[in-house]
Amino acid sequence: MLKSLLRQSRRAGAALYWLVGIVCCAGTVLAMMLYNNIAERKHEAASTTLRIVDLTETTVDPAEWGKNFPRQYDGYIRTSDNAKARFKWSEGRPPEDEIHAGMNKADSKLAGDPRLKTIFNGYAFAIDYRERRGHSFMLFDQRETERVKQKPQPGACLNCHASNVVAYREVGLKNGAPGELSDPLLSEAGQKQLFKGFETVNKMSYNDATQLVKHPVTCLDCHDPKSMVLRVTRPAFLEGIANLAKSSDAVPHLPSIEQWRKGDRKSEYNPNALAGRQEMRSMTCAQCHVEYYFKGDEKRLTFPWHNGLKAEQEEAYYDSVGWTDFTHKDSGAKVLKAQHPEFELWSQGVHARSGVSCADCHMPYMREGAMKFTDHQVQTPMAHVNRSCQTCHNYTESEIQSRVDQIQSRSKAQLDRAEIAVVDLIRAIQAAAAAGASDEELKHARELQRKAQWRADLMNAENSMGFHAPAEFLRICGEAIDYARQGEVEVAKLGKKKQ
Ligand code: HEC
Ligand code: HEC
Ligand code: HEC
Ligand code: HEC
Ligand code: HEC
Repeated sequence: MLKSLLRQSRRAGAALYWLVGIVCCAGTVLAMMLYNNIAERKHEAASTTLRIVDLTETTVDPAEWGKNFPRQYDGYIRTSDNAKARFKWSEGRPPEDEIHAGMNKADSKLAGDPRLKTIFNGYAFAIDYRERRGHSFMLFDQRETERVKQKPQPGACLNCHASNVVAYREVGLKNGAPGELSDPLLSEAGQKQLFKGFETVNKMSYNDATQLVKHPVTCLDCHDPKSMVLRVTRPAFLEGIANLAKSSDAVPHLPSIEQWRKGDRKSEYNPNALAGRQEMRSMTCAQCHVEYYFKGDEKRLTFPWHNGLKAEQEEAYYDSVGWTDFTHKDSGAKVLKAQHPEFELWSQGVHARSGVSCADCHMPYMREGAMKFTDHQVQTPMAHVNRSCQTCHNYTESEIQSRVDQIQSRSKAQLDRAEIAVVDLIRAIQAAAAAGASDEELKHARELQRKAQWRADLMNAENSMGFHAPAEFLRICGEAIDYARQGEVEVAKLGKKKQ
């Protein structure tokens, strides 16, 4: 009995011994596994930190940034899946000959609004003019447009269609700018490289210039790679906004400019040093979504903000430097072509006045669990009214949509009238010229066409169909109608004289 007990306990002892052994062993293995795991995590953490450190002034590829910021990257690449804007020019399908076989291109704006072919006759926009689409298409669409394929264009076009900060700096360094590529962009040397490259690339041919770039606008163009704070990187914007600051146009929506104006003005207004975060959330967009022209033989990309941002102020600048985009083929008038003045029109509206930025509506916050981040799928806010509008407006989604519809349909009706009036004036001048009216006799009517066409075109080229500033939109269209009909009266007077 005792023997068997002893044997049992010995066995139990042995079992215990084994058990302890196994537990210890397993414990060690577990501990080692845990240690390994921690080490791995630490390594991961370190490498994430390392990768953040890795983002430098030369990291152009957005996929690299995406390793650190996957949510922002995910939105960024999804700009190729954007929802369509509510207001579409090409509502009527373009005729088949407008659609290039096998090529994935945006819909034609000319097909949706045939008046535009008359209005732009004599200029490349009468050949090919399409709907805008998501940021991921910007470089492809520029390379593929018939405006580039059929007409020689300058490198200055690249400013708004590519990630070009590094390309500009490299060209700048090759052309004698000081410092190195690793200098912070906002350092004195960095800025000198950027400006030198800008000046050199502007006057290159588009076909040569476009070889220098690979990506559409990327992270580096809007963010500092170390701190991720927003920055503006386009020389034309830095010059344009400094000129605007020097003007007397009231800009209550850009408080840092109003502040600068009160100072000694010894140095130029510099948004990277002075603008607040909310201003930057619009200024990053205002580098591209603006009216522009190429100045002189240098083809220097220039924003016409010297007198202010309103239609007549930009026009006064162009008149003062004697600028004309093209001579109209049918009427002989020396006219302007307007481009996407989103920043300018937004500046005239109640949202800008209330401190609502482009990013508030077009890049609203989104949530994923506890994470709150900025939606980088830049697109129409109507794709997410809840996040873009209902944060401030306490109405149902359908009510908000119908308010936007109402603004846009009123705007479109008035714009149609303005374009019809411009086309009528073109035809009237053309007929008078054919009947023998002299250039001298037609001078005033042609000047009125320039004024009318500039206004109608500017509101047409603006991409919100009036939403960004409804009252201003109607004012400008109203002026266009008035100038065009005044022009017809001038032509009619000639007719009377001739009889
Ligand atoms: C209060 C909100 C709001 C603000 C602020 C705002 N927008 Fe818009 N934007 C809209 C709406 C609404 C539309 C019309 C969208 C539609 O038709 O689907 C629009 C249209 C556009 C479009 C055409 C959209 C498309 O999908 O084709 C562009 C480009 C644009 N805005 C750029 C800007 C820029 C640049 C700024 C700042 C300077 C700005 N917006 C400020 C609400 C806003
Ligand atoms: C580097 C120039 C550049 C910058 C900076 C830029 N955009 Fe754009 N944006 C473009 C171009 C070019 C297109 C048209 C691309 C195309 O049609 O291929 C575009 C298209 C758009 C569209 C139309 C999208 C669609 O689906 O139709 C919206 C909305 C827009 N931008 C808003 C913004 C906002 C808001 C900002 C600032 C956060 C901004 N953009 C910054 C150049 C720029
Ligand atoms: C100041 C910035 C800026 C410059 C410079 C610029 N673009 Fe754009 N471009 C834009 C923006 C913003 C859009 C999107 C809004 C729109 O389509 O109205 C756009 C749209 C386009 C589109 C698509 C829609 C269309 O018009 O068919 C093409 C193509 C294009 N640009 C070609 C060019 C060419 C060619 C040049 C040089 C002559 C040029 N861009 C210079 C900002 C610019
Ligand atoms: C056209 C300009 C633009 C581009 C291009 C852009 N961003 Fe942003 N980004 C913004 C704006 C505007 C904000 C909001 C910043 C603020 O409010 O201070 C932002 C915010 C951020 C933030 C801060 C966190 C957050 O979500 O609010 C991160 C991180 C970020 N972006 C990463 C990226 C990455 C990665 C890319 C490239 C894949 C990129 N961004 C491209 C304009 C841009
Ligand atoms: C950050 C706040 C904010 C956001 C976001 C915002 N709004 Fe507004 N909105 C305002 C303010 C402020 C006014 C001025 C009226 C007032 O003071 O109540 C206004 C006015 C308006 C008006 C009337 C004025 C006009 O221009 O005709 C409309 C319509 C409007 N908003 C629609 C929208 C839509 C659509 C969106 C989303 C795309 C939007 N808002 C996003 C703050 C905002």
